[in-house]
Amino acid sequence: MAKPLPKSILKPRSVGRETAQPNSPSRSLVHLGDRVCWDLDKAANPHMVILGTSGSGKTQTLKAIVWEMCKGFPSRSIVLDFHGDQELPGEVYHPIHMASNLGINPLTINLDPEGGGSKLQAISVAATLRRALVMGTNQEGLLILMIQELYERFGITQEDCQTWTRKPPHLGDLELAIDARAEGGCKDAKALQIKLAATFQYGVFSRSQIDLTAGKLVRVDLSKLPPELGAIAAEAILKQVMDSHRLAGESPALKTFVFVDEAKELKGSKTLDRITADGRKYGLGVVLATQRETHISPDVLANTATKILLPVDVADIKKVASRFRFDAGRIANLGTFQALVRTGGTAVACTIEPFFKRQA
Ligand SMILES: Nc1ncnc2c1ncn2[C@@H]1O[C@H](COP(=O)(O)OP(=O)(O)O)[C@@H](O)[C@H]1O
Ligand SMILES: [Mg+2]
Repeated sequence: MAKPLPKSILKPRSVGRETAQPNSPSRSLVHLGDRVCWDLDKAANPHMVILGTSGSGKTQTLKAIVWEMCKGFPSRSIVLDFHGDQELPGEVYHPIHMASNLGINPLTINLDPEGGGSKLQAISVAATLRRALVMGTNQEGLLILMIQELYERFGITQEDCQTWTRKPPHLGDLELAIDARAEGGCKDAKALQIKLAATFQYGVFSRSQIDLTAGKLVRVDLSKLPPELGAIAAEAILKQVMDSHRLAGESPALKTFVFVDEAKELKGSKTLDRITADGRKYGLGVVLATQRETHISPDVLANTATKILLPVDVADIKKVASRFRFDAGRIANLGTFQALVRTGGTAVACTIEPFFKRQA
């Protein structure tokens, strides 16, 4: 039987104007700047989008929020760092690159009896690879087939959920299977070899998986990977985090926040749509920062209660105003490092206090 959601999360939304001191020990307020805060008790959901042009202060804003959360909230923060500039005190640091000891295994199976298993994992991984590496439907179909065969070779079948906890294959095993098939003369397998060459060469998907629960603040540095491999890694991590939260059941407490700077690398991510639609129920929130509104899907936009708008490119103002429902004049008048913040209702202006000014 599902637990009812706490009233606090379902309250009407508005951006909080602080009544307490900015660094008071409240569990729901994240100080943003001036006397404005992100009030998680008042927000309909714990998701946020930060939009601003290059140099507008997104990274400093994001780091400031992670920092405040780590200090004042019991939740875990996972930072997906595409640029390698999100370092924070007290973090558990997982660099992912050609020579790193640990990696990410996209073939890790979702153990949820409803919606998990090897077949669905094969479909999901093939879709991610197809999107990131731009493949045709034949190649995607072959990938699904081959990944399923691979799971079966590892004794894992969709039908028997007892087998889902067995050690899954990794992409290195897939590479060998594709090579064998290509040598047998399969043209689509040869095409897959070419498409996946860089993915395999980096080896990051063929190693033991990093521990995303290794600390209260975990940063995964994807900056040494080509963008398409970073996107595959980030998508796999997001899916694992969402799957594990779903499996653990509904949670009134916010257990985990995932932070993604430069979220354009995740444009089109189905998992981000899923997290923003459903994550709150399972205690999972996501904070995304990006330069252009086109990087944010309609689903993510609709399901993200809190928006922070930093100065955007002049050419984007009209579109941003209409999609994010901010007044175009107010956006155009934003000064350097000024922001409009809205949770639900009215937008409030403030100057974000950047991370570098917050450290004691
Ligand atoms: N509120 C602020 N006040 C003063 N300087 C800031 C502020 N926010 C960011 N900066 C500085 O501006 C520069 C760009 O900020 P950054 O957060 O990296 O922008 P973005 O990620 O949007 O490109 C950095 O040198 C940063 O230290
Ligand atoms: Mg930045």
